[in-house]
Amino acid sequence: MWIFTFLSFCFFFSCGLGTQFPEIIEMEAVSTSVHTFPKDFSFGASTAAYQIEGGWNEDGKGPSIWDTLTHTHPEIIADHSTADIGADSYHLYKKDVEALKKVGFQHYRFSISWSRIFPYGTKINAKAFDYYNKLIDELILNQIEPVVTLHHYDLPQWVQDEGGFLNPNVIEYFKLYADTIFREFGSRVKMWITFNEPFDACTEGYGRGVSAPLIKLSGVGEYICGHYLLLAHASAYHLYKSRYAKDQRGMIGITLDGRFYYPKDATVTNDIVERAIQFDIGWFANPIFSKDGGYPKVMIDEINERSKKEGQAWSRLPKMSKTTMKYVKGTADFLGYNYYSSRLVRLNTSDFDPNAVPSWLSDTRLIYETEPSWKQAKSSWLYSVPQGLHDVLVWFKNQYNNPLVLITENGWSDDGRLDDNDRIEYLKSHLISVSKAINEDKCNVIGYTTWSIIDNFEWTRGFTEHFGLFTVNLTSPEKERTAKKSAGYFHDVIKNRSV
Ligand SMILES: *[C@@H]1O[C@H](CO)[C@@H](O)[C@H](O)[C@H]1NC(C)=O
Ligand SMILES: *[C@@H]1O[C@H](CO)[C@@H](O)[C@H](O)[C@H]1NC(C)=O
Repeated sequence: MWIFTFLSFCFFFSCGLGTQFPEIIEMEAVSTSVHTFPKDFSFGASTAAYQIEGGWNEDGKGPSIWDTLTHTHPEIIADHSTADIGADSYHLYKKDVEALKKVGFQHYRFSISWSRIFPYGTKINAKAFDYYNKLIDELILNQIEPVVTLHHYDLPQWVQDEGGFLNPNVIEYFKLYADTIFREFGSRVKMWITFNEPFDACTEGYGRGVSAPLIKLSGVGEYICGHYLLLAHASAYHLYKSRYAKDQRGMIGITLDGRFYYPKDATVTNDIVERAIQFDIGWFANPIFSKDGGYPKVMIDEINERSKKEGQAWSRLPKMSKTTMKYVKGTADFLGYNYYSSRLVRLNTSDFDPNAVPSWLSDTRLIYETEPSWKQAKSSWLYSVPQGLHDVLVWFKNQYNNPLVLITENGWSDDGRLDDNDRIEYLKSHLISVSKAINEDKCNVIGYTTWSIIDNFEWTRGFTEHFGLFTVNLTSPEKERTAKKSAGYFHDVIKNRSV
């Protein structure tokens, strides 16, 4: 068996022509185990426009909030880099498709740059269609299904100039953009994701102000952002269903992130753990996926009570009217989910401080910790907790009536080494969790997407943290993509459909 594996492996990875995988026998041990995946389960890899494209001002593209951040505040980026060129997928997308093909991925999740299509306002830049048409056609030619995220952090600067997600105008702007994208690409794209990680976009961008657009409106901005983002999502969903779904027959969902939580010690009740999950995942999932809709009760009650104690005239969490609740509820054919890590929680028993600046964190009244035995990645926030992925999938099943789930991101950061054994270990343990959730717990997980196919610009960490199955030579004009050991590992997983 391993000889066959080795031969097919060499076919894809041209062994002897520069790329060597001496650890091939280790991979065989992996492929004989019993954690399987259903026939129609899809394996893929993920990227986002700003992180890989480059071509930041080409063919009429306007600036996004990430162009603005990297150009005006280089000190915020760990290595003071920008993604003006980066992996240059704008010109070298065929190399990305080639890399996907080599591993055997069945789908590719990428995002479209909104400010290419609408650079400075509501006037379309049709030139920008070319790049995405070429990319989509190249994927289909190679039997790789495109999974398209409409918005992955890179809001057009002109939308931000009007307040971005703090101004309800963003809803109509997003709907116009979504309409354009569905019309232009919907004949070939059957999986749509409206937004990526609203929790991070809103808490980091509009609450703590540590990511673009750097708005520090702690305890207020993140909730307004979340509110209008949910409405923008729902408006795109309704538009797709009423105008496009009948002919195009695609599915549309949203990608949420969120950790899973465990009690720090025996004094921590289930209610406290549940509270942690609701403040994180539930904030965006409850309005869309729950039976009744609206924000989680624990968030409504807690933020209302704290707002009162602070002397505010009304709750910092926007009220969702019955009409809005109905409008947002059920607006997803599937739940896209990014899983990276988990945390331990306990209640913060300190007294309420009326003079403290409110924040999402203080609203949770929780203290978040990690377990010393959890292996840490290069990223400060990333600890390997594979059990958390299994448990959150079971939680989705129980909480939201077993929705279709597409895992849209899962991955490990390191220093960029080719011999990336820790990444292989992370992927393997997390794939086992997914397999168990499907086979033992009957969770409706339809696919798994790893982050990422290539090393790329990791937001404020610049190019210092590497998540790719392929490394990219950033100093070469050709930006060669070179397979890491994990690419070979994943190739075998897909080929054997088991871990
Ligand atoms: C616990 O709450 C108090 C009062 O709100 C706050 O000052 C403190 O920073 C919190 N502790 C942690 C670890 O979050
Ligand atoms: C990257 O490309 C440059 C320029 O072509 C070359 O000199 C260098 O050796 C390459 N680095 C690696 C690690 O292949």
